[in-house]
Amino acid sequence: MIYLDNGATSFPKPEGMLRAMYGCMQGYCGNPGRSGHSMSMQTGEEIYKARHELGKLFHIRDCSRIIFTSNTTEALNLCMNGILKCGDHVITTAMEHNSVLRPLKALEKDGVETTITKCAVDGTIDIERLKGAVQANTKMIICTHASNVTGTIMPIEAIGMFASERGILFLVDAAQSVGCLPIDTDKMKIDFLAAPGHKGLLGPMGTGFLYVREGLTLKPLKNGGTGTKSRDLDQPDDFPEGFEAGTVNAPGIIGLGYSASYLTEIGIENIMNYEEELTSMLDEGLRNMSSVTVYGPNDVKKKTGIVTFNLAGKNCEEVSSLLDSEFGIASRGGYHCAPLAHKTIGTYDTGAVRLSVGPYISRNDIKLAIDAVYQLKNI
Ligand SMILES: Cc1ncc(COP(=O)(O)O)c(C=O)c1O
Repeated sequence: MIYLDNGATSFPKPEGMLRAMYGCMQGYCGNPGRSGHSMSMQTGEEIYKARHELGKLFHIRDCSRIIFTSNTTEALNLCMNGILKCGDHVITTAMEHNSVLRPLKALEKDGVETTITKCAVDGTIDIERLKGAVQANTKMIICTHASNVTGTIMPIEAIGMFASERGILFLVDAAQSVGCLPIDTDKMKIDFLAAPGHKGLLGPMGTGFLYVREGLTLKPLKNGGTGTKSRDLDQPDDFPEGFEAGTVNAPGIIGLGYSASYLTEIGIENIMNYEEELTSMLDEGLRNMSSVTVYGPNDVKKKTGIVTFNLAGKNCEEVSSLLDSEFGIASRGGYHCAPLAHKTIGTYDTGAVRLSVGPYISRNDIKLAIDAVYQLKNI
């Protein structure tokens, strides 16, 4: 199988990560932060190391501000539901995933007002338009770092600077950028970073996190046991325990910690450059074919490792299915949980096929994928 569905979740995973998870489950997996015995303590220490490794990747000084979640969606919900109240105004973009749009839609029923900023046909945003949407009650700007439909990279640093100058909170959905693009929460003035463990960070499914800038706090999404202040019936608001009620996914988090250290060793810039080379090959190969429409920026430097396309006269889900059954290529056809992004690029009625590269994809895999699309044109 040539796995070109890394935008959904990455595959394969580093061997060391599998060993770290297995080592935990087989060797010492006591409930962290609960009991005082050595197995519980060791699990707690390994989870601390995982937090620390993630902190290093994103220039986060106080790693206790990293709250582990089960995925990006939970991190985004924790942030939006934990901060926004009736009367607040939020600005977001048309390139967002449903994991931003749907919680906002639900919050609108509680009196939160939303402005969705339109984007250009290649998914790029005009920051002036976003600035123009600010109102007196604007509490938060929410923006994806990179679109999961076109790969378009958003001007996060410029938006962060603007939000910070105006005293507006800035939440970044880094689902498509962690592990693929460098992220400096300080330099980019990111107040909240919501991210998956299971995509570019090469961790296991069931992992993700929300980073909350020092000095900010929010309402927990879950109330319950934290292993701290146990005689108190009120939910503690200490970081990170107060926001991680219930037994955490220790093996997953420990695996993610391993992957984060592995990525630090390889260097995110190196991964970015390699994926850019693959994306450039794929993008060019498909754009040069007649009857193929490729969406998103023409310049691969303006996007992550995503190439989304349609074949004239062919249904995208059928193309995706044939790539799998006839060529052993994993892709994703349809709407990618981002209806407004598809509206923006003009594929609301058709959907599209998404190929997404990863660090384990070879140049030859890309050649085979281009050839497969070429053959499919004629089927
Ligand atoms: C841009 C974007 N945001 C959010 C999500 C949701 O991520 P998760 O599946 O980790 O909840 C995705 C998933 O593909 C995504 O691409």
